[in-house]
Amino acid sequence: MSGYQLIDFGDGRKLESLAGYVVDRPSPAAEGFLPTANRRMWLDADARYDSDQRIWEIRKPWPESISLEFGRVRLPFRATPFGHIGCFPEQLPNWRWLGETIAKLTDERLSAPRPLECLNLFAHTGGSTLALAARDAAVTHVDAAKPSVTAARQIAAENRLGEAKVRYLVEDAASYVAREVRRVRKYDLIVLDPPGYGHGPSGKTWRISRDLWPLLDDCLRLLPTFGAAMLVTGHSETPDQNEVADYLRQRITGAGQTIELATMANRLRIATGRSELIDLAGRRLDAGYFVRAIW
Ligand SMILES: C[S@@+](CC[C@H](N)C(=O)[O-])C[C@H]1O[C@@H](n2cnc3c(N)ncnc32)[C@H](O)[C@@H]1O
Repeated sequence: MSGYQLIDFGDGRKLESLAGYVVDRPSPAAEGFLPTANRRMWLDADARYDSDQRIWEIRKPWPESISLEFGRVRLPFRATPFGHIGCFPEQLPNWRWLGETIAKLTDERLSAPRPLECLNLFAHTGGSTLALAARDAAVTHVDAAKPSVTAARQIAAENRLGEAKVRYLVEDAASYVAREVRRVRKYDLIVLDPPGYGHGPSGKTWRISRDLWPLLDDCLRLLPTFGAAMLVTGHSETPDQNEVADYLRQRITGAGQTIELATMANRLRIATGRSELIDLAGRRLDAGYFVRAIW
């Protein structure tokens, strides 16, 4: 990964270098740890997010051009509300997996060549969208927040991966997928990065503990029985990666009642794990889970 380095973490905050520009911001995963870097480094940060006032304190102008680079994709670092930096560097191994999976599904495909159809739900500013589009996949990018979708569209255009390959939708993820099921649409790969709690554009609430399971059922209805993949990432304690993986395993192999994909029982590969960032002292900061399924 080029352009990003976790410097230190502790006391509920993390200190990061964004292409040399140093930011200090909240990180719930850093609660219960003590910082190890020199205190001066923290005090000299170029920008600091104040969680009480909910504002960025910009001490040195935020450079226009700093970005996270992977492959030929550049994701700009920006000071965004709630202490975010415009993208999620910890997703990089997942973006790499998406690229490799597109290559694998394309190689295995028996039918005539066509771009693989991908659906990115809760897509935010579109790191996964660009990882897929860079491999010539067609992507439907769905997020409930108009500013995120506008930013994603602009970033894709800057990467010359815009309109030709990506469809941008400001939609409630679950409602959109239910509509696609009714239209009998098919995709080859689905990515979802659901928050614990959220809202659709018209205020419909999303609660992961209640809404994830029917959404996964609908997603599986959109995927074929052979040559498909799914990536689920998340930050919740419940469900965790094992519950999500078990749920998918049961349904994809046909043991679940909802979907019959039994023919795939012996082909299914599911990998689960934790995403993490490593600081300059070599310590690992947890960044949520991933479940990668390919069948
Ligand atoms: C954790 S972020 C996703 C980060 C993204 N995968 C990335 O790597 O850049 C969660 C996203 O879900 C969106 N969201 C929340 N509730 C939603 C809903 N009901 N339907 C669609 N998107 C929703 C938010 O706007 C936010 O962009």
